[in-house]
Amino acid sequence: MGDFLIVYASRTGETKKIAELIAEGIRIGGHVATIKNATEIKSEDDLKGFKGYIFGSSTYHGEMISSMKQVLFIAERAEFENLPGGSFGAFGWSGEAAQRIFDTMKNIYKMKMTGSPLMLKASWLQGGIVMAQDYGKAMAKML
Ligand SMILES: Cc1cc2nc3c(=O)[nH]c(=O)nc-3n(C[C@H](O)[C@H](O)[C@H](O)COP(=O)(O)O)c2cc1C
Repeated sequence: MGDFLIVYASRTGETKKIAELIAEGIRIGGHVATIKNATEIKSEDDLKGFKGYIFGSSTYHGEMISSMKQVLFIAERAEFENLPGGSFGAFGWSGEAAQRIFDTMKNIYKMKMTGSPLMLKASWLQGGIVMAQDYGKAMAKML
């Protein structure tokens, strides 16, 4: 258990790396972060008990990875109202996944969201490491 739960869906590991960098930022910000693969979430009990949630998926053919879609349906029953939320995802050119996750957390779960999703082409490109850490630090400040 910890302050934040980060759940990611990733095919080749890019989104997983972003999850790890966001967790670093949360820890720098003085809070505890737990990371889980979306495939580990089987029921709302696997989500409950955290003070904030950050969900991420990369985009394939305009969509998020199916394990993250399942997580979003499970999370509907987890009572996230007014909790801090954020989303992220690696992408190649369009990056729909992170925005759709963000919109679901905002409109369905009624969470208190960060300004926008974190979308990176790769964690190591164009200042991605610092941007992902900064996203975690900003989330930490929401607690
Ligand atoms: C078959 C295929 C389809 C893809 N479709 C999209 C897409 O529709 N939009 C997009 O922004 N990126 C697309 N990408 C790029 C991936 O999102 C990108 O490689 C990302 O870094 C993968 O992250 P992951 O390792 O976390 O899965 C696609 C990549 C592949 C191999």
